[in-house]
Amino acid sequence: MSPARYPGVKGVEDILPPDTYLLQEMEAAMREAFSLYGFKELRIPVIEFTDVFTRSIGETSDIVEKEMYTFLDRAGRSITLRPEGTASVVRCYVEKHLYNLPAPQKFFYSGPMFRYERPQKGRQRQFYQIGAEAFGVEEPKMDAEVISMLVMFLKGIGLEGFRVELNSIGCKNCRPAYREALRGAFAPGLGSLCPDCQRRYELNPLRILDCKVDKCRELRKGAPLVTDSLCPECREHFRELKSLLDMLGIRYELNPEMVRGLDYYSRTTFEVTSDRLGSQSAVAAGGRYDGLVEEFGGPATPAIGFAIGVERLIYLLKERELDIPLPDVFIAAIGPAANREAVRLAGRLRAEGAWVELGYGGASLKSQMRRADRLGAAYAFIIGDDELGAGVFKWKSLKDGSAGEISGADAPGFIKSRKNRL
Ligand code: HAM
Repeated sequence: MSPARYPGVKGVEDILPPDTYLLQEMEAAMREAFSLYGFKELRIPVIEFTDVFTRSIGETSDIVEKEMYTFLDRAGRSITLRPEGTASVVRCYVEKHLYNLPAPQKFFYSGPMFRYERPQKGRQRQFYQIGAEAFGVEEPKMDAEVISMLVMFLKGIGLEGFRVELNSIGCKNCRPAYREALRGAFAPGLGSLCPDCQRRYELNPLRILDCKVDKCRELRKGAPLVTDSLCPECREHFRELKSLLDMLGIRYELNPEMVRGLDYYSRTTFEVTSDRLGSQSAVAAGGRYDGLVEEFGGPATPAIGFAIGVERLIYLLKERELDIPLPDVFIAAIGPAANREAVRLAGRLRAEGAWVELGYGGASLKSQMRRADRLGAAYAFIIGDDELGAGVFKWKSLKDGSAGEISGADAPGFIKSRKNRL
């Protein structure tokens, strides 16, 4: 194949049928599962002022440091293509004073996100997320509900063999002590850390735990675990969450080394992972961000949410049998007058909700019928000069071979009455 004259942008993929059918199924499953928990859809914009992301995701995060698509608009303001949805939802929550509505307020969203990462399996520069965010409840009950909603959605769409990894990274009261414990552990090897981590050591040593450089990985072996530094409140919150998940029968694995790539988290963090995804193993991830609404200028409001990586989920569900719709009728027509009649009949049938395909290019009846078969149409209507004169068409079931004749006036009723049985 010769290279395209206008290739797509690297890391930005088209989603083609049949994957788009899977996407539609996913969106239907999302609406179904999320509505049972009272989450309502929110449509957030694709662009925000850059500060919305730098302030929330964190100056020292990989996303803000190297992955944002940022540009100046015509008025010279810094705009960023959203790398994730949580910051926008919080911006909206505060800007629209949604905290004045009765708590909890629960939202879900879906759409493309943009990160300038190195494209590889499971990692694109444009990717889709389905996300959910709940505001106004501090109790671990909400954490358990959010995680169980995610699990229900994933199971509902047919995902198997995934793991829920769970951690608590403490709150603003216990994090400073943990930061100090980490600094203490990394101090002797500080000079051997990568330049990024040397900076992180000062600004946010937790980020060192997430560094991909081999030397830094080596140096962090034996570093103190965050779960050992939790304050009594965070410890109790975590204990209760685990006990609720146990009660709900949701299996999880504790992963005290899980560091999320975004700075806004506090207390509960979780990831849903699958071995089949390779090194980019998380199909969904989330956690609490109890300080973020306040950071945006709103009242102190606890919150928790997650986002699912849609392409990774599509990849995991590739082998699943899909419910792909097929045409109801194929109209094969022979001759100019019959072809005109076919267009009229197709219009009538479509008005009744039937999916109709037509033959084109003066193809022979045989080749038109072959196409009808290939398309998987349930019925074929055959219109030739003879049929036109008599005012009746031949019909044939491509499923069971039965056949007969029908008038143009009766055809919509004929298809309608059979459509439900197809
Ligand atoms: P995140 O971990 O950055 O969290 O992304 C969530 C999920 O999006 C990942 O687990 C992965 O499945 C998918 N994802 C991320 N980056 C890429 C990429 N470059 N290519 C393909 N898929 C990707 C968040 O975005 C948070 N906003 C989640 C959250 C919501 N936390 C609280 N509320």
